[in-house]
Amino acid sequence: MYHEIDLDNVNLSLQPPTEEPARQYYFMAKCLKWVRDFTKKNGRFPKSCVTTFGCQMNARDSEKLAGILAKIGFVETEKENQADFIIFNTCTVRENANMRVYGHLGQLTPVKKKNPHMKIALCGCMMQEPEVVEKIKKSYRIVDLIFGTHNIYKFAELLSACLESDRMVIDIWKDTDKIVENLPGERKFPFKSGVNVMFGCNNFCSYCIVPYVRGRERSREPEAVLKEIRQLASDGVVEVMLLGQNVNSYGKTLDNPCTFANLLQQIEEIEGIERIRFMTSHPKDLSDELIEVMKHSRKICRHLHLPVQSGSTEILKKMNRRYTKEQYLDLVRKLRKAVPDISLTTDIIVGFPGETEEDFEETLDVVRKVRYDSAFTFIYSKRTGTPAASMEAQVPSDVVKKRFDRLLAEVQNISAEVCAVHTGKVMPVLVESVNDHDQSLVTGRLSNNLLIHFPGDKSLIGKIVNVKLNECKGFYYLGSRTFDQSENF
Ligand code: 5AD
Ligand code: SF4
Repeated sequence: MYHEIDLDNVNLSLQPPTEEPARQYYFMAKCLKWVRDFTKKNGRFPKSCVTTFGCQMNARDSEKLAGILAKIGFVETEKENQADFIIFNTCTVRENANMRVYGHLGQLTPVKKKNPHMKIALCGCMMQEPEVVEKIKKSYRIVDLIFGTHNIYKFAELLSACLESDRMVIDIWKDTDKIVENLPGERKFPFKSGVNVMFGCNNFCSYCIVPYVRGRERSREPEAVLKEIRQLASDGVVEVMLLGQNVNSYGKTLDNPCTFANLLQQIEEIEGIERIRFMTSHPKDLSDELIEVMKHSRKICRHLHLPVQSGSTEILKKMNRRYTKEQYLDLVRKLRKAVPDISLTTDIIVGFPGETEEDFEETLDVVRKVRYDSAFTFIYSKRTGTPAASMEAQVPSDVVKKRFDRLLAEVQNISAEVCAVHTGKVMPVLVESVNDHDQSLVTGRLSNNLLIHFPGDKSLIGKIVNVKLNECKGFYYLGSRTFDQSENF
């Protein structure tokens, strides 16, 4: 395990090893030397800033970047313009994610003019698009390092090259089947952690750029996942979030295939882990076996994120989702029958090419029938290179905007009603933080993912306690602790 690696014992007079992760430890030792030289020269430690865009997978990747930066002696700052090394972990799932990155780079241009020693790095999904890299090479010369999603495990090696060079370092791989284990990683919270179970996606939904930028689906060995979670449990983590673009197809590509349901059963056995979450689930791959495991589990949270994308079978077909409206609704019925108190959330895209008013009504119909606890609603964004980008009948933006507003109103009205049904109940809550606005309150999360604020102090952080849900405020609750039940979920 990386815990045991002492970077001072790495012999830098030798050639770098060829095998991983030893090679990355070698470059971490090299970076550590750079940091020590910097500190001696400037009388202070160098500062780093990791800025993340996009999904939970990216957030987890950023923890790994931050872990390496911490290991080699950088001090973290949240202020980009005060950092000596800034890295943007980018997202490209929708166009506005790209625009935000260009906005940050624009703001940093004058800052870097004043501090030429500042190093700026870009990584993540957006960098897997050749047009993006061309644009940066041409118009954003302030960038010093660019790498993609497939070689993120090489961060220490690339950072070392960047610190020692005045030229822009670019290393993008088209794909990989490699998974490198045992690299350092930081955790934002001491009591909960994301755990990657698989990488990439093979689904090729016709609007989605992810399979092109994250590559083919590959799963971690169950033993590697279990070992990481056992380690987390012994470090005091009580909640894990299993991460993958499509966790329901976990394990299919392993030499010894293992289903996701089976992996969950093994995680359930790990002492100290009290709550298990996972995302994202594709409806077409959600098995009866998984529903059965959820039904009997003590630890799997009563929440499922089940993206529907559209309620129209016609549009779903064009999206290449491989389920119909009826199949989706049947799945919801099956889930609710097995786990009656399950909270369901979803993703919905409005304005997919060819979406008619009737198609949109079908989406509203699904929303009304399922009654989601909450839904992420997105305006369709054309992604170059995806099949949908060249489809005919792109919907005019004013029509899309009106549909989007109607959908949002429907989703919000329903979720306010759905969330309120627990009023008066006593439920176990994992306390996450002291409340931002009122220091006499703490904020915690219910098994169904809703937030609740109640009187308490920081000694409760990371503990699971029983709380009475006194009042629903739309998307969160106000509560008070009760001491009369056993506190064990
Ligand atoms: N336009 C709009 N939304 C998209 N998503 C993925 N690709 C696009 C796109 N091109 C949404 C889907 C997915 C979520 C992560 O992002 O709803 O589930
Ligand atoms: Fe994109 Fe579909 Fe894969 Fe999700 S399942 S990442 S929407 S291609």
